[in-house]
Amino acid sequence: MKLKIALLGGDGIGPEVLAQSVKCLRAVEETFSHRFEYQEAPVGAIAMTSTGKPLPDETLELCRESNAILFGAIGALEYDNNPDAKVRPEQGLLKLRKELGLFASIRPIKTFPSLIGNSPLKKNIIANTDLVIFRELTGGIYFGRKTLSADGSVASDLCQYSEQEISRIAHLAFKAAKKRRKKLTLVDKANVLESSRLWRKTVTEIGKSYPEVEMQSLFIDNAAVQMMMDPRQFDIILTDNMFGDILSDQGSVIIGSTGLLPSASVGAENAMFEPFHGSYPQAKAKNIANPVASILSMAMMLQHFGLDEEANAVMVAVHKSFVKKVVTPDVLGSSKYGTDYVGDYISGNIVDSDENLNLN
Ligand code: IPM
Ligand code: MN
Repeated sequence: MKLKIALLGGDGIGPEVLAQSVKCLRAVEETFSHRFEYQEAPVGAIAMTSTGKPLPDETLELCRESNAILFGAIGALEYDNNPDAKVRPEQGLLKLRKELGLFASIRPIKTFPSLIGNSPLKKNIIANTDLVIFRELTGGIYFGRKTLSADGSVASDLCQYSEQEISRIAHLAFKAAKKRRKKLTLVDKANVLESSRLWRKTVTEIGKSYPEVEMQSLFIDNAAVQMMMDPRQFDIILTDNMFGDILSDQGSVIIGSTGLLPSASVGAENAMFEPFHGSYPQAKAKNIANPVASILSMAMMLQHFGLDEEANAVMVAVHKSFVKKVVTPDVLGSSKYGTDYVGDYISGNIVDSDENLNLN
């Protein structure tokens, strides 16, 4: 299969973790006789420095015409600490999601048995957790009208959703649930928010055409508690943009490090694969960033294209790195291994074998 892949390293640790994914992809090409085509493009703070824009037109064009985008990370301290900045690096990512119609962020949270001790949560609570968050990605409060009064003392962000925006991700989520443990939890705040009531009405209606899937609804505040008390009760979680953002970071506590979690952002035409984590500017160029979230995002890309054996080979190699403790210091404090070394180890262990992933 010939895939054209856009590489958007972005800011902070983004480029260095993405470089490890590319290393692993080259190993996949080699092992499975594929030819992939790569092209790099700037996004985020780094693009603002060179072009003045967080998402240059050329980058957007490249992404449109690519089969997939591998994304590093976005954000820089000088903007985080400056609420008055009108143009911000994150706008590059948000515009990319919006322009490409990447309406569903798929965020799996599955415990790795070899790293179970890494979570601050009790082992008997988190063992065998296997849930997937379907986060709506191009609507809601992130994209609603924003206002700031002339004197700067009153601000607002509108949370708006249409039935159509809710139903397209709901169908994806129900279909995923059908293939898994057949349970879908809608997370909202329908006791307070009108937009949440539309979610509940729309999703409940759609649920009727998936009778084999059991659906329940939880308020976000309760869902946050449930996820820490008993994460195993969840299979698919379906939620809006803002709740999904918060819940997915919270879910990473179950795994023990945000440096391990991948995501796929998909739409009708395009797909982008990005780690959960941010740009972690404090770690930039120190060779300590964990490349695994980026590598597993790349594996989700392979799965997206039906390259299941290839994806499996990547995941087996990642698993091996955990078992052999070839991990970065965020996973094992005493580890001396850096980003590069872990990337080399994982790419060097990508082989065509029938070894099955028996993670649990
Ligand atoms: C994420 C990130 C982004 C988001 C930021 C960087 C804009 O936190 O992908 O979860 O809020 O969507
Ligand atoms: Mn987030």
